[in-house]
Amino acid sequence: MGQKVLVIGSGAREHAVAHTLLKGDSVEAVYCSPGNPGMERDGIRTSQLAQTNHAALIDFVRENGIDWVFVGPEVPLMEGIVDGFAEAGIKAFGPNKAAAQIEGSKDFAKRLMERHNIPTAAYETFDDLDRAKQYVTDHGAPIVVKADGLAAGKGVTVAMSVDEALEALDEIFVDHRFGLAGAKVVIEDYLEGQEFSLMSFVRGAEFWTMPISQDHKRAYDGDEGPNTGGMGAYSPVPQIGQDVVREAIETIVKPTAQAMVDEGVPFTGILYAGLIATADGPKVIEYNARFGDPETEVVLPRLESDFGAGISALLNGEQPEFTWNTEGATLGVVLASEGYPVDTVTGAPIPDITVDDDSHVYYAGVANAEHGEHQLLASSGRVLLVESSGDTIEDAQRKVYGILDGLDTTGMFYRHDIGAKAL
Ligand code: AMP
Ligand code: GLY
Repeated sequence: MGQKVLVIGSGAREHAVAHTLLKGDSVEAVYCSPGNPGMERDGIRTSQLAQTNHAALIDFVRENGIDWVFVGPEVPLMEGIVDGFAEAGIKAFGPNKAAAQIEGSKDFAKRLMERHNIPTAAYETFDDLDRAKQYVTDHGAPIVVKADGLAAGKGVTVAMSVDEALEALDEIFVDHRFGLAGAKVVIEDYLEGQEFSLMSFVRGAEFWTMPISQDHKRAYDGDEGPNTGGMGAYSPVPQIGQDVVREAIETIVKPTAQAMVDEGVPFTGILYAGLIATADGPKVIEYNARFGDPETEVVLPRLESDFGAGISALLNGEQPEFTWNTEGATLGVVLASEGYPVDTVTGAPIPDITVDDDSHVYYAGVANAEHGEHQLLASSGRVLLVESSGDTIEDAQRKVYGILDGLDTTGMFYRHDIGAKAL
């Protein structure tokens, strides 16, 4: 008998997690809370329970004979959902509240890296507008201003001029654009180089790395426009050499896992290292305490071993096995609502998308239309992601755009250059 798993979350990342779990023999059924109606097309069962309603989720696990839980997004992790499940005697994969600070507080993450000599940009933390402005003026541009706390990837300004940095500080301290998240600000040096994402399964000091990937954070082609949660990704990233990846594992992943153990906040879950390959080697720009989105949608299709068996082994103190496809490539492009991420206009009808075995559609912000059984409508910024695998990145890219370019995407948009940096 296979296991029953509950995945918490509702995005394309959780769709990819649930779909990959169902592909393995060890898992028999996957529920997703709250999930989205697009996931149901892949046999994932959804329950409308909110990811913040921990008590109802605990009841749901008990009532449905769920064996273990996978927590997708950062918000419930930061709220201590894993601690709550543990108190109820339920196994949940993800960091507890104390360990999730590695994502929840940029100040915590920066101090951890400083104490353990983990390479990152030099920085200062401020809770006072005048001192922050003085620092920017003294330091000059380019310079990076980050609101402390969670701001859904939108609390960061990479300022190419001093004026732009000062404006960002006013937005945080005077306009309170990020609410409480802006009570503190981290100002750091600008790092030059290509970005890549290195995700690992972590259990205390032990870790198992995944293939690297590259996200595209800006809204429009050519890395123009505002920062978003991510508009597309691909894996592997051939322009980042194996030597750089090895160095990142030795100087970043390994000491980070060890540092969390040494500081009494051992981390179990997915550790996401957002890195820049600088002329001085890889450096951390951010940690996340969970899978990246859209990175997960291009990395998990490369997993060859049974995903559920791997997580289950991690939860049970056993040795997990994770084996990856090392030959091919995967690429995914996000279809977003018009105006995202600034003035998002939702409600666009989602066209039916038919794909072959090399491709998959992962749904995110979609809802059922009130009338019409099978009609989905866009309900938030990122609507869905189309992913394809191929022998090369170019091949995967051709397949994805072959699908997207043939759709009626009225009321939505997507980038046309995902993967271009690798070609
Ligand atoms: P974060 O939310 O910290 O990942 O930042 C969002 C984006 O801002 C990153 O994906 C980078 O593109 C950019 N960024 C953040 N920190 C730096 C930095 N120190 N130097 C250059 N770019 C950065
Ligand atoms: N794609 C970046 C993130 O998940 O934060």
